[in-house]
Amino acid sequence: MSNNILPVKGTHDIFGLDMEKYNFIVDKFNMISAKFNFQSIQTPIIEHQELFSRSVGEDTDIVSKEMYSFVDKGDTTICLRPEATSSLARFAASNYQSGQMKFSTHGPMFRRERPQKGRYRQFHQINIENIGEKSSYIDFEIILIASTILKEIGLEADQYTLLINSLGSPEDQINYSKILSGYLNQYKKNLSETSLTRLEKNPLRILDSKDESDKEILLNAPKINDYLSKESQNFFNDIKLMLTDNNILFKEDEKLVRGLDYYTHTAFEFQTNEEKRQNAILAGGRYDKLINMISSRDIPGIGWAAGIERLSDLLSDQKNYTQIPKKILYAVQEESYLSNSSILKQIYRADIRHEIKVNKNIKKLFTYADKNKFNFILLIGEEEFKSQSIILKNLDDKSQKLYKQNEIILVNEIR
Ligand code: HAM
Repeated sequence: MSNNILPVKGTHDIFGLDMEKYNFIVDKFNMISAKFNFQSIQTPIIEHQELFSRSVGEDTDIVSKEMYSFVDKGDTTICLRPEATSSLARFAASNYQSGQMKFSTHGPMFRRERPQKGRYRQFHQINIENIGEKSSYIDFEIILIASTILKEIGLEADQYTLLINSLGSPEDQINYSKILSGYLNQYKKNLSETSLTRLEKNPLRILDSKDESDKEILLNAPKINDYLSKESQNFFNDIKLMLTDNNILFKEDEKLVRGLDYYTHTAFEFQTNEEKRQNAILAGGRYDKLINMISSRDIPGIGWAAGIERLSDLLSDQKNYTQIPKKILYAVQEESYLSNSSILKQIYRADIRHEIKVNKNIKKLFTYADKNKFNFILLIGEEEFKSQSIILKNLDDKSQKLYKQNEIILVNEIR
C-alpha cells in the first residue's frame, strides 16, 4: 500500500537469519573478549557533539559531513554517536586509575553516509579498547583477538587480508605534516577545494581524499612510514615479529592512514578479499593522543571495531547460528483441551522452545508446523481427547507415536 511507512533511508530492520547471525557474532565476541579479560560496557547513544569534533576531528568526513546533530532544548549540541571509541575514551578520562582498562562494547552507530550495500546510516559494531598502557605486546594482542574472532565466527583465512601500517608518534606526525605540506604546496593549483582548506589546518587529512586529482598528486607524496623515529620503527617491528611468530599473516600498506584524527603508531584493517566496494570488515589502531584531545589527561590506548552487518554478510546462509534446541508445536483442536493440561505443565518446566496453537482443522495445524519449521508436533484431536491420549510426530523423520497423556515424558522424547 502506498501509505506504508518504510525505514529511514540507510537504516534497516534486522530479522530472521540476519538476526541469528547478528546474535551469533555478538555471542562469540563476548565470549572471546571475556577470555582476554575485557569488561562489557555500554555508553549512551547520544553524546555532546564536541566529543567527536575534538576526537575524530573537525576536518574529517565523519564530523564535517556525516553527523546526526541537533540542538537540544537550550543550547547544547547533541549528536548520535558515529563510533564508540571516543565515548570509551571519555569514560576512561574520568575513571582511569592505573594499569589497563579493557572494554568491550557493541551497538548501533550513526553516520549520514551515502547508503549502498554494506554502507548504512545506522550500522552496528562490536568494539574492544585497551586503555592505559603502551606496550607492543598489547598492539599484537588486540590484533590477535580480532583474528581469533574472525576465525571463530567461521571465516576462512583466504576470505580476508590484514593490512597494517605505522602512523608514528605524535611528534613523528608533526614532523611529517611539515614535509607533506611542503610537497603539497607545489600542487596547490590542482588540489580540490576541501584539500586546500585542509592544507592549512590538517594536511594529514588530505591523505584520505577521495578526489581523483588529489589522489594522483598523492601517488608521489612522501610516505609517513619513511619519517618514523627509531623508537617508532622498533615499536612497529616488535609487533610485526609477534604477528609472524603467531602465524598471523599481514601485508604492510603505507597508504593505510585511517579516516579519524586520533591515530598514532599502529593502524590496521581487515579487508575482505571479495570484490566489494565496502571491503573493510574490521579496523582500528593505537590512539595515544586521543584522551589528551578530550581531557587534560594523557593516557594511551588501542582498539578496533568491526561492522556486524559486514561480517554477517560474509557468513554462509546454510549454517545453523542458533544454539536453541528443537522446536515443538503443541496443537489442539479445542481451546478447552488446554485447561488443566499436564502436557502444558511439562512444556513450561522443561525449557522447550514451543508454541501453542488451537484450530479445529487438523490439516491447517500440520501446514502451520511445516511452514514454520517445527521439528515436532504434539497433537490432541477430538479422538485423542476422548481416549486421554496424545500424538507425537517427528516432522524431520516423519515418525509418529501415540502416548497416554499421563505417561508421556516429553524431555525423553524430544531431542
Ligand atoms: P571505522 O573504520 O570508522 O573505525 O569503522 C570500523 C568498522 O565499522 C569498519 O571497518 C566497518 O566494518 C564498519 N563500518 C563503518 N562505517 C560503516 C557503515 N556506514 N555501514 C556499515 N558498516 C560500517 C571506527 O569506528 C573506530 N572507532 C575503530 C577503532 C576502535 N579504533 C580504535 N578503536
